[in-house]
Formats: sequence, C-alpha cells, structure tokens
Amino acid sequence: MLQMTDIKKIYRTELVETHALRNMTLAVDEGEFVAVTGPSGSGKTTFLNIAGLLESFEHGSFVLDGKDVSHLNDDERSVYRNRKIGFIFQSFNLIPDLNLFENVDVPLRYRRLPAGERKQRIENALETVGLASRMKHLPAQLSGGQQQRVAIARALAGEPRLLLADEPTGNLDSAMAGQVMELLESIHAGGTTIVMVTHDPDLARRAGRNIHLTDGRVSDHHVAHLQEEIPRSAQLETGSLECSATT
Ligand SMILES: Nc1ncnc2c1ncn2[C@@H]1O[C@H](COP(=O)(O)OP(=O)(O)O)[C@@H](O)[C@H]1O
Ligand SMILES: [Mg+2]
Repeated sequence: MLQMTDIKKIYRTELVETHALRNMTLAVDEGEFVAVTGPSGSGKTTFLNIAGLLESFEHGSFVLDGKDVSHLNDDERSVYRNRKIGFIFQSFNLIPDLNLFENVDVPLRYRRLPAGERKQRIENALETVGLASRMKHLPAQLSGGQQQRVAIARALAGEPRLLLADEPTGNLDSAMAGQVMELLESIHAGGTTIVMVTHDPDLARRAGRNIHLTDGRVSDHHVAHLQEEIPRSAQLETGSLECSATT
C-alpha cells in the first residue's frame, strides 16, 4: 500500500535548516493498522503529511497504492490525495459555519461527484459514525468526541484506500478517545489500511504493528499484541515456533 525508501525532508528558513526526516524507510501493507509513536519533533507529522501527499520531499522514493508518487507536482498530488486518502487531525479541522452534512460534503464537492451520490455517501458515513440524526447540527453543538467522529465521516465518505490519523485522540478525554479508537478499529476491520500517530501507549498497543520514530527515522519496530518489544529477527523465530506448535 505504502512504500517509502530513504526519504529526506528538510525545512529551510533563512536562518536554519531542520532535517525533519533523515532516512525514512517504511512499508505498510494493504489492510494493516500501524501506530506511529515517538517524541515531539521526531518527524511523525512530517511523515504523515508526506504519506498523505500534503507535502513534497527532496530525496528518496515513495510508492503509494502501486503508483510512484515521488515526483508529482502540487496539483497532481491533491487529485491523487482526494481519491486515495482520508486524513484525520488532532484538532478535527471542521468548518464551524457548515453543518455536519455540509462538512462531510466538502471533499466530495471538490471531486465534483454528482449530488445524488454525494448525499448517499454523506448519509452512509454519518450513519457509520453514529451521527446520522444530527446532520443539521453545527460542529460547536457537539462534544469533542462527536466532532472527531464527523471528521472521520468526512474521511470515510471519500472511500479512501488509506486512512491517516495524526493524534486523533490527542484533544479528547479517555472515554471519548476510547470511542474514537473503537470506530477506527471497526473501519480497519472493514478492510481500510490505517496509519495512526499517537502519544497514547495503550492505544498504540491495540494496533497491529508499532513503529517508533526518533530524529526523523524509524528507530524501533515491533508487532503489537506481544508483551515485550521484540527485534524483527526474533519475531521470525517466534512466528516459526507458533507455526510448528499448531501443525
Ligand atoms: N513547516 C515547518 N517549518 C519548519 N520546521 C518544521 C515545519 N514543520 C515541522 N518542522 C520541524 O520538523 C521537525 C519534525 O516536526 P514534526 O514532524 O511536526 O514532529 P512531530 O509530529 O513528531 O512532533 C521539528 O523539528 C519541527 O520543528
Ligand atoms: Mg506532530
């Protein structure tokens, strides 16, 4: 689904160069749920923005859903992003003076889908997140957890192949965070590939695989659901033991 090789991203201002990604190499398979952790400033958002075609990069290669997207220009990136990717942000990013229906409609209008199909997709997406009865409400009339569910509906309405979430529960209390996580889990169970940045180790553990970024590169990699962090080489041995035990 996603294959990044040796990607570098440098932010330049007049005074400083910041190496946000140094040698980012990562593959995510179709159907995976990957959680990304790492200290503040380690490049998590930069990685997700590049994965979501929101930003370009200077070195390395990136293949997304079978297409080399390393050299797309801004317009090509946004067209491809709109068709392939759903994005969820920590701060929801809803438009305050549009109601829920209209908020979910924004990316669909941008794609110039016919009105009937848009309506169907919006109603289905709001149904999926449990907010079909509030279509005419404004975002401010909802709790934070509900607002994030609207943002998830907006992402889902595009029928993305890849769902990217940047600390989606970062602004929520633990009960609401749990609901949003359950929703992401059910979307994943429906077949969507998910990459989620999170600070919450309990949520990270619920994903199928965890990667840890330090200083703009992957510093640690392990399959979740195991009790300890196990190096990749040892994972293979564990896997073969399990195999032989069941055969
Ligand atoms: N638009 C930008 N301009 C300049 N520097 C940036 C920009 N965005 C991020 N950075 C820098 O790149 C590094 C990685 O940032 P980021 O990807 O946001 O990290 P994280 O999400 O892990 O906290 C940080 O040092 C940050 O200050
Ligand atoms: Mg960040």
